[in-house]
Amino acid sequence: KQQQRQPLIEAHQEAAQLYHHILMNTKLGEAARNYLQERQVSPEMIERFNLGFAPGEQVLRSFFAERKTDYQTLRKTGLFIEDQAGNLKDRFTNRLMFPIKNTTGALVGFSGRLLHKSDSAPKYLNSPETEIFNKRRVLYNYDVARQAARKAKRLLLLEGFMDVISASQAGIDFGVASMGTSLTEEQIYDLQRVSSNIDICYDGDVPGQKAIDRAVSLLEQNGNFQIGVIQIPDGMDPDEYRRKNGTAGLQKIVKSGREPVIKFRLRYLRSHFNFEQETDKIEYAKQATKLIATLDSSVERGVYLKDLATDLDFDQTSLQEQCEEDRRKQR
Ligand code: CTP
Ligand code: MN
Ligand code: MN
Ligand code: MN
Ligand code: MN
Repeated sequence: KQQQRQPLIEAHQEAAQLYHHILMNTKLGEAARNYLQERQVSPEMIERFNLGFAPGEQVLRSFFAERKTDYQTLRKTGLFIEDQAGNLKDRFTNRLMFPIKNTTGALVGFSGRLLHKSDSAPKYLNSPETEIFNKRRVLYNYDVARQAARKAKRLLLLEGFMDVISASQAGIDFGVASMGTSLTEEQIYDLQRVSSNIDICYDGDVPGQKAIDRAVSLLEQNGNFQIGVIQIPDGMDPDEYRRKNGTAGLQKIVKSGREPVIKFRLRYLRSHFNFEQETDKIEYAKQATKLIATLDSSVERGVYLKDLATDLDFDQTSLQEQCEEDRRKQR
């Protein structure tokens, strides 16, 4: 098995080198270089993450043809699209390339980003499932983050490649991303091996909030984590937040912006109700007391019930009674 995998990994290493060379040293890479500069990705990060560029031409096909790489190996890399006659064409064209390593640090796949918005093609294109690339298992930056997380005693779970790179540029190396797929049990297993202290720092937009809600539940069900949520304001993602507030701003929010899960849950719940409507307020009150009732500490329950009463302008005693009743039912 290992023997079958090695040539595929080597082909990925060669492809990554070629893409990186094209990005750094050629006219073909100029637009991508400018793109990265505009997004304020430092040269150091370009090197650290070994970013590259796949131009419009069939560069991989020519490159491997010259090196007389075995046809069956090439097919299995997933780096090509095969037509009905069995001819191989580069899968990735006109894309900024992010090499992806598996949890043991072997280069097993790519994701490619279009430099410009397109209606006909997805923003990111990932490697297909191959003998070496299993999307459910991949966590971007895992091999580096696992070292950093041991020191920092915490892991940061991000949404995207650029968020991981932005965090790293801000000196935060314990960030990983689950590549757009919603978090899988396989990924959670690998996270648990590194740290039980995990902070979710997904995008501040509506899909991001939904994804946090789901990730929290999955982490609670499939592991024994202390979970925090870092809420990026104004619908931004961590990378946008860095560009607006600088690396110092991102450092600060990651260092001290950790909220307990209950706070996120209450805010997320609240966003589904319209307080202009009395019926909505009452329904929110009922669901919120249920959430608060799950807290084991009566001090904590007291704090959140007080906030809830103020927010709703409801009587605190009746909320408290409701919460006690919810607790009796939950037991
Ligand atoms: N993603 C994907 N395919 C897409 C869109 C997103 O695989 N068509 C994955 C990528 O890993 C991406 C992550 O989901 O990094 C988060 O998506 P999104 O927030 O939309 O992208 P950003 O990471 O913010 O990308 P960028 O800043 O480059 O626009
Ligand atoms: Mn280089
Ligand atoms: Mn997003
Ligand atoms: Mn994003
Ligand atoms: Mn982004």
